[in-house]
Amino acid sequence: LVSSGPLQLAEKYFKLYPEEIDPMWGNPCLDQRHLKIWSYKKSCQRLPKFLVIGPQKTGTTALYTFLSMHPNISANAPSKETFEEIQFFNGRNYYKGLDWYMDFFPSNDSVDNKIVFEKSATYFDADIVPKRVQALLPNVKLVTILISPAKRAYSWYQHAKAHGDPTTLKYSFYQVITANESVAPKPLRDLRNRCLNPGKYALHIEHWLDYFNHNNLHIIDGDQLKSNPVDVLDQFQKFLKITPMFDYSSHIRYDVKKGFFCKVLEGGGNKCLGKGKGRQYATMDAESYKYLREYYMPYNTALVKLLRKLEHTTIPQWLKDDLSYSS
Ligand code: A3P
Repeated sequence: LVSSGPLQLAEKYFKLYPEEIDPMWGNPCLDQRHLKIWSYKKSCQRLPKFLVIGPQKTGTTALYTFLSMHPNISANAPSKETFEEIQFFNGRNYYKGLDWYMDFFPSNDSVDNKIVFEKSATYFDADIVPKRVQALLPNVKLVTILISPAKRAYSWYQHAKAHGDPTTLKYSFYQVITANESVAPKPLRDLRNRCLNPGKYALHIEHWLDYFNHNNLHIIDGDQLKSNPVDVLDQFQKFLKITPMFDYSSHIRYDVKKGFFCKVLEGGGNKCLGKGKGRQYATMDAESYKYLREYYMPYNTALVKLLRKLEHTTIPQWLKDDLSYSS
């Protein structure tokens, strides 16, 4: 019998099984063999019970902020690298491993049975994410917010513009969304994709449902979140089966100056989200809106079917509006 050192063995192993080079973190607490060798200092509690998965520009920061006010809910600690989002399941952070991820969540003692969650709006449309989430958190609940995909695309363009993205300074919104997929310069194609792809909601949701039971998924109408967040938050508390329910009506209120709901401060006054959320910009030009409504027609049609299949009680008004369009 011949053996080698750990490094050489690893090299041999990965030559035999190259598909395993890319790690897939499982939950050590769900496997007795793993649990036995798991350090006694580590806690299975340091993982989220629900994820706000996005997509970006649908009101995810507002939802995160309102949920963080809840006495029985606790958000992840903010990440210095990615602002408030951890963005573990997509991108390079995944390779930093489980300890890195768990460090964002409160330890057993401080959490007091609170429901811990994480919000990373980039999860929604990243292909690899549902599989990775399922491997680590098979019972996690998922929350997505949907607004008109045309408006989401425009909001992303405005976001990029506000951050000085040179492509937005060179090209109008219409030029971006209609850019040719094969001949347009790469930065233009990239921006086009960031504007358009997340809005193919039905495709992405179906992909999540390949890995999760539909009962784990909660869909929020982003327009409702803007206009009536108290109702949205009450429904969400019911979904999480939180009792007694937190009375949001005395903790958030509409701020006329901001044009959105904000947190009520103890000494009076409101604390609204920063200037990057709820930006002021010109309404979308009619030509772009027409183009996008046609572009999203098949995806929106599929979304209505999907919502009916999921027995979603109401079809959002924005979806009816987007579909009622005829050229
Ligand atoms: P705009 O800035 O384009 O209006 P996200 O946090 O996912 O990036 O979403 C940002 C969007 O959240 C904003 O897009 C805004 O329309 C929406 N939003 C919903 N509720 C809000 C609130 N209470 N305060 C500020 N923005 C809110």
